[in-house]
Amino acid sequence: MAIPADIVNEIKYRNDIESVISSYVELKRRGKNLVGLCPFHNEKTPSFTVYPENGSFYCFGCGAGGDVFSFIKLIENLDYADAIRFLAEKSGINIIESATDNSLQKVRNTIYDINRETARFFHSVLMSDEGKWAREYLLSRGLTLKTINHFGLGAAPDKWDSLLNHLKSLGYSISDMVAANVVSKSNKGSYYDRFRKRVMFPIINVRGRVVAFSGRAMPGEDKSAKYINTSDTLVYKKSENLFGINFAKNCCEERIILVEGNMDVVSLHQAGFENTVAALGTAFTADEAKLLSRYTKEIVLTLDADAAGQKAVRRAGEILKDTGLNVRVIVVPDGKDPDEYIKKNGPERFKALLEGAVSEIEYKLLTAVEDIDVNTDDGKVKYLSRAADIIADTPDPIARDLYISRLSDKYGIQRSTLENRVKEIRRQKAKTKRRQEINKIINPRFEKSSVLPEKNAYPAAVAAEENIIAVLLSHPDFTDYAKDNITPDMFISSVNRRAFERMLELSLEGLDYDLSLFGEIFSGEEMGYITSLLNGNKSGDNSLTVLKDSIRVINDESLKRKSIDSAKKSTDDWAENIKKIIDNKNKGDK
Ligand code: GTP
Ligand code: MN
Repeated sequence: MAIPADIVNEIKYRNDIESVISSYVELKRRGKNLVGLCPFHNEKTPSFTVYPENGSFYCFGCGAGGDVFSFIKLIENLDYADAIRFLAEKSGINIIESATDNSLQKVRNTIYDINRETARFFHSVLMSDEGKWAREYLLSRGLTLKTINHFGLGAAPDKWDSLLNHLKSLGYSISDMVAANVVSKSNKGSYYDRFRKRVMFPIINVRGRVVAFSGRAMPGEDKSAKYINTSDTLVYKKSENLFGINFAKNCCEERIILVEGNMDVVSLHQAGFENTVAALGTAFTADEAKLLSRYTKEIVLTLDADAAGQKAVRRAGEILKDTGLNVRVIVVPDGKDPDEYIKKNGPERFKALLEGAVSEIEYKLLTAVEDIDVNTDDGKVKYLSRAADIIADTPDPIARDLYISRLSDKYGIQRSTLENRVKEIRRQKAKTKRRQEINKIINPRFEKSSVLPEKNAYPAAVAAEENIIAVLLSHPDFTDYAKDNITPDMFISSVNRRAFERMLELSLEGLDYDLSLFGEIFSGEEMGYITSLLNGNKSGDNSLTVLKDSIRVINDESLKRKSIDSAKKSTDDWAENIKKIIDNKNKGDK
């Protein structure tokens, strides 16, 4: 590990989990543990538990878990090492980092530097003769020079090595350029500029650093993609960033407008709507929703009015549901995107659209009618049952009441008919939801989580593996016994195998199985899972027996799999042989 283990321990010692989490979450004591409302998902009854005894936390609702560093990592949105530094600073500990981490941090800093220089380079090309084509294009799309400068827009020259040579002259190495994803390697092994003959949009994060680029092809150019974007790098994760967030974050208490395209962001911004952002060449993600929920209370979706846009609105709505954010939708008339609309109709008209943005439910009710002919009785029935579903999904009883009245008036049916239908759907949904919640609390490990994709196919083996990890976490002294009786390759689930491997490593170094020693290599979700095993281990005095039994199961299961594999192989071989015989016979016949 980069930060020496004894320093990490000291930081942990000075930041006890109870007081750290208390400064974010209101905790109530329950027995020797504490509970509160989970800060990582929306809930009304507390399922977030802190275990001071072993310095961990776990949420039975969403599966988040880990130690105090994992908590800071999630809540402050930092990487693991930065979470450690964060708490170090708080408790006045000076970290002297060892060489390995320094080098990773160094690459990160170099990527930031390269990105900044690249943005400067593209911008200066745009402002020079060489970039006249791009400048004229942007001006022709109605952008002012002020806006172009404000966003630091640029132009990538129509050459294979302009940027590469420029960065080289500044002293950067090719491998760092590749790490920043501004230079690519060809199949033949040569290096070339990733962005060529494109209008460049630098993507700037909330801390004001250039983290990536988005490049638009010129219209009429025969390019495979209209936009190409930086792939994920050490400083950039596509699914966690939004174009325009660096500006929007300063003026978005009331709302943030989410649009589809980069050009829409720039154009709305120029028209005075600085609280506009766009997802970057991907569908809107849960991480982006989380980012937005830190800055605003309402999201206004303005996606295209076409079918794809509607689907995107629904999806974004689903994702935003869990954030507690208010969601409204703008329907831009005539299927235009906001950029076109504002250019044609001016900012005042767009403002009116914004004011008139409908609630998400209204939007859904509007669009649910689309493929139905409501002039027929059949169509009416079909639409109203869809509408009942939509209304039932609305938590606000006043809104439900309002739409039930409106629709029953409009379609000339009795209010009580629609009302009863909505009630019935809500009852059903509540029942399903309760069942799911109870299942989660009784048995959080049996969630169909992405951490354990192997669980469905091999339930017995995976359950035994879980027992082994759970026992070893609280009894590191049993590791030798386990090591003598099973090997990592006998594990069917990858997360448990990696946990076991990590334990073998740590036990070789004579280290205890402190959660922080897992946190640096396991993802947030995996940490939640591992913590649930640690706190869910109920075997107590029987631990050794449980361990032995589970090891037996793993041995049996692994043998079983082998014999199935070999049976399958012999069947395959047999089929192969038959095929050969037939083929040969056919050849002979000719
Ligand atoms: P203009 O046509 O110049 O108005 O661009 P726009 O920014 O409005 O883009 P458009 O509506 O065509 O697409 C919306 C967004 O989807 C873009 O801003 C990109 O982020 C993304 N996108 C569009 N085309 C591509 C593509 O070919 N590849 C990738 N990765 N993303 C794309
Ligand atoms: Mn557009």
